This record gives sequence, C-alpha cells and structure tokens, in this order.
Amino acid sequence: MIKILFVDDEPNVLDGLRRMLHSMAGVWDMRFLTDPFEALQAIQDCFFDIIVSDLRMPEMDGAVLLQEVRHRSPETVRIALSGYSDQASTLRAVSQMHQFLAKPCAPDELIAILNRATVLGNLLTNKRLKRILSEMESLPSLVTLYDDIVQELERPEPSAPFVGELIARDAAMSAKVLQLVNSALFGLPNIVSDPVHATLLLGLDTLHALVFSIKIFDQFTAETVGGLSVPDLWNHCVSVARLAKRIAMAQSAPDAVAETAFLGGLLHDIGKIVLATDTPELYANVLSESQHDHAAIISLEESALGGNHAEVGGYLMGLWGFSEPIIEAIYMHHDPAKSPSTSFGALAAVHVANGLCHLLKEPEASLNNTIDHAFLERLGLNRQVPIWMDLATQTLGKENDT
Ligand SMILES: [Fe+2]
Ligand SMILES: [Fe+2]
Repeated sequence: MIKILFVDDEPNVLDGLRRMLHSMAGVWDMRFLTDPFEALQAIQDCFFDIIVSDLRMPEMDGAVLLQEVRHRSPETVRIALSGYSDQASTLRAVSQMHQFLAKPCAPDELIAILNRATVLGNLLTNKRLKRILSEMESLPSLVTLYDDIVQELERPEPSAPFVGELIARDAAMSAKVLQLVNSALFGLPNIVSDPVHATLLLGLDTLHALVFSIKIFDQFTAETVGGLSVPDLWNHCVSVARLAKRIAMAQSAPDAVAETAFLGGLLHDIGKIVLATDTPELYANVLSESQHDHAAIISLEESALGGNHAEVGGYLMGLWGFSEPIIEAIYMHHDPAKSPSTSFGALAAVHVANGLCHLLKEPEASLNNTIDHAFLERLGLNRQVPIWMDLATQTLGKENDT
C-alpha cells in the first residue's frame, strides 16, 4: 500500500484533509501529524512514498522539514501545501519540493495529484535512478529562470510582443527560437532576426513548449556527454516535435493534443541526457552498441544502467508537474502498447514521429523495428502509416535543406 504522510501544525487542516481523502482510506496508508519533529521520526522509522507538508509551522519551517526529508529519505516524493499569502516561504522551499499545492485545494485535485505522485513512485523501479532524479536541482532553476515568461504565457490573454521581449533578454533562448523560426519548416521568405517577430510567427502555444524545453536542455551545458551530442539530440527532438504535431493535425486531433504532441516530442529523449550525465562511460558504451540498431537502446540501457531513458524522462516530467498525457507520451514512446489507450493521442503521435525520424535517418532501421504496428492496429490506425510517412519525408526533407 502507498504510504503518505501529511504534516500541518493546524489540527483542523489535517481533519479537513482526512475527511477529503476518506474515500482513499483502503488504497493509501495515510498518517496525519501536527508535529514536524514527529514527522521526521516517522520518516526515520519507516519509508513513506509521499510527504505532503505545510510550509508555515512554528516549531519547524516546512522548507527545513522537506530539506531534512530529502536528505534522510531521498526517494520520498515531497509535496508542499501552502496558502497564497506564504509566498516568501514557498520560494524558500522551492528547491526542496517536487510539487507545490495551494491551499485550499479541492478534494479531486488533491487526489489526482497524489495519484500521479504514486504512479511516479511506481514508474521507476530502480532506486538508484530514483535517487539521482529526486536529487536533481532542476526545478528551482526552471522556476526562477523562466518564471516571467511562463507567468505571461499563462495569463488569460498573454501578450506575444512582451513574451518576445522577455525571450530577447536570454541569448541562448533567442538563438534557439530564431533557429526554429528560420528553418525551412516555416517556409518564410525572409530571415527573421527579431525574437519579438519570431514569437508572433510561432504562436504562443508552440512557444510555451519551446521555451520550456530549451530551458531544460540548457541545464546540460556540455556539448557532448557520455558520447551523446546534446546539439544533435536537440535537433532530433525538434524534428520529432514538428512531425508529431503535424501527424496530430493530419488526424484532426484537437489543438491541445497537437500541442502536447509537440512538447512530448521536444522532451521525449530528455532521459538520455540524464543517464549520460550520470554515468558517462557506461552511456558511451550503450550508444556505440546501439549505433546500428536504435530499437535496441532501451534493453541496452536497462542492462547497463538498470533503467531506460523513457522511464527516466517520464519520471522527470511527473516530478516537474507535467500533465498525464505528456508523461505518458514520454514514458511509453518506445513501448506504446503499455498504454491502455484505444484512440489517437499525443503518445501515438510521438511514438510514430520518433520511429519515422529514426527510420529516415538511419539506413539500417526498418519500419518493423521502429513502429509498433500492433499498437496502431489497436487504435485502428495502421492504414495511416503511408500518409504519415509522406509527412515525415516532407518535414525532414525540408529540414535537410536548411
Ligand atoms: Fe527515445
Ligand atoms: Fe528519439
């Protein structure tokens, strides 16, 4: 049973939580404590999958508690629960938590978030990988570095010129945005050199996905790590993103699915960078062994490192609070049959786009080992493959022209 520890100095808040989560009593083993010192003792005595802690507590600050938990039980997923007025303490705690929940929160929202955290807990069976990921400090830098841009993008009516100005302040991000908008994919007659103009051309949704992934890629500053070329991986991810979005549009999927497919494509192989950064020598071996057979990379990673890049990527997305369809698209991009889904979605788009990108770039690859036909059959989509193949040839052909 999943064990969850709730800590809040106000007994009535805990009572509220207990009532709210009453329906989950048979599924989760929940403990409610008002004393953070007692909470630390409890963590010491037995393993908790998740801790949900208040931030403002008189005896011990929530940030301090979560920091201690991070130290003593790094595999525990840490969620902070705090009121809107506690901005200062929230900021202080940001590097110590995986997720932040604003008080008061609706029961279904809380259950959904805890459920996702438990799925995450099960996603990675390898404890060592789990520990590496929960120790990663990426969340704070994501929050602080591109906070302004995201804040603007998440307003009901964001201003594209303003977002463009914000992007222009960050040289690396401007370069990537301009590179994308100037690639032949957009078929623009003139070179665009102004990030503000680029923003207007790309559209805010695409930009949102792009800004996020650029920021993630930028955390890994080395050009090559563990035999992996970060710029090459970035180019591959951009191709997969573009193609996944086109495939979604060709299927007349809703805009939200097309955008999820785009973001899923941009981030689908992010786990590779994490694995390569963690154990460069081992990863270099994996890469050279899988050079002629991309499909083998998952099993090679598993035997060498005890986990694969798809699960690491999915886990990371979950920790960063991404929605389920993105986690699924990344987690299952090499093995979509794991998903219970029976209709077209971001997962199918990313899986097919990735498979076709590899197929077109690697002479040894074959359609059978890059695309899961049984999965497409289940979705009733096998007949679409030739159409998607045409889209891929167009998309990648255009990229090669640039
Ligand atoms: Fe992959
Ligand atoms: Fe890939």
